[in-house]
Amino acid sequence: MKNIQAAITAVHGAVPDNILSNADLEKMVDTNDEWIISRTGIKERRIIEKGRTLSDLGADIVAGICEKRGISPEEIDMIVVGTITADHRFPSASNLICHKSGAKNAWGFDVSAACSGFLYTLVTGQQFILSGQCKKVIVIGADIMSSIVNYEDRNTCVIFGDGGGGVLLEPNDEGFGIVDSILKADGSGKEYLLQKLGGSAFPITKENVGSPEAYAFQEGRTVFKFAVTNMADVSAEIMEKNNLTGEDVDWLVPHQANLRIIDATANRMGLTKDKVMINISKYGNTTSGTIPLCLWEWEDKLKKGDNVVIAAFGGGFTWGSIYLKWAY
Ligand code: ACO
Repeated sequence: MKNIQAAITAVHGAVPDNILSNADLEKMVDTNDEWIISRTGIKERRIIEKGRTLSDLGADIVAGICEKRGISPEEIDMIVVGTITADHRFPSASNLICHKSGAKNAWGFDVSAACSGFLYTLVTGQQFILSGQCKKVIVIGADIMSSIVNYEDRNTCVIFGDGGGGVLLEPNDEGFGIVDSILKADGSGKEYLLQKLGGSAFPITKENVGSPEAYAFQEGRTVFKFAVTNMADVSAEIMEKNNLTGEDVDWLVPHQANLRIIDATANRMGLTKDKVMINISKYGNTTSGTIPLCLWEWEDKLKKGDNVVIAAFGGGFTWGSIYLKWAY
């Protein structure tokens, strides 16, 4: 019997049309274009239109994937969603996306892993393909960060944006698909990057509603130190584990949190810049959305058999790396 792998067979992305530029932010908080570009690499980010939600973006992603692959949404077995900004605490974004996209025969759930959301979700989807339970799994990474960002806090509001993407996973017996993954978690990092209010530890009450703690908080300098080391380390680890050199890797798809973190990871892996997918200047940090948005944008350049390494670091802390062989 041939070995089965879970392979990506289609990609689609969705970003809102509204652009929030660095010049716009200069009018909202004490910041400037030069600081934002030199510290992060971000020039602009997208902000969702009023009335549209995460599940609307998700339904667009499913429709785009089905159109590309020439399948009906009813053929989808499962939709797994990496997000920290679902429409509601419950029902899950997956639940609503299945409904809105017409994926009547699908089920699924959300995975909360902040900026590592797409990695955690991709490996989760992979398991349902490998077990044989599902033949077509859509894995989505998307976030509406504008719903949890305080636009009076210059430490966070310049960084984040809205958007996301998704992939279709199908079984492959020709040696293409996900080869290996390393996923890590360390909850002792929670105090440096979190949305404190709104969970069961600190429910929203009459007294605390409107408090800055209702929004995403980040101690940037500390998170930067953890991110820059761990994202580079885990990427080097997956290369060593699979006997890959910088020459062997065709593409690095890094989480887009900060250009300096991406550069450090690429250097550690021995990669030239032309092998690194970078679109942070256009979209900022869309949390779970950054990696599928890169795959979507680079889809035309990816070739069957390309060695692709995906890497991310995010709140929790959570981080990891995935090695896959592109399947089309
Ligand atoms: N405009 C102007 N000045 C600013 C701004 C701003 N928007 N924000 C902060 N500053 C000031 C600070 O107040 C500070 O001033 P001080 O020196 O007088 O105190 C100075 O700039 C330097 O601030 P730092 O926070 O040290 O800036 P740093 O170079 O670390 O950049 C950043 C901040 C971009 C947030 C960086 O730390 C970073 O990228 N951190 C990691 C982000 C990350 O990887 N997050 C994980 C994924 S996100 C997720 O999981 C949801």
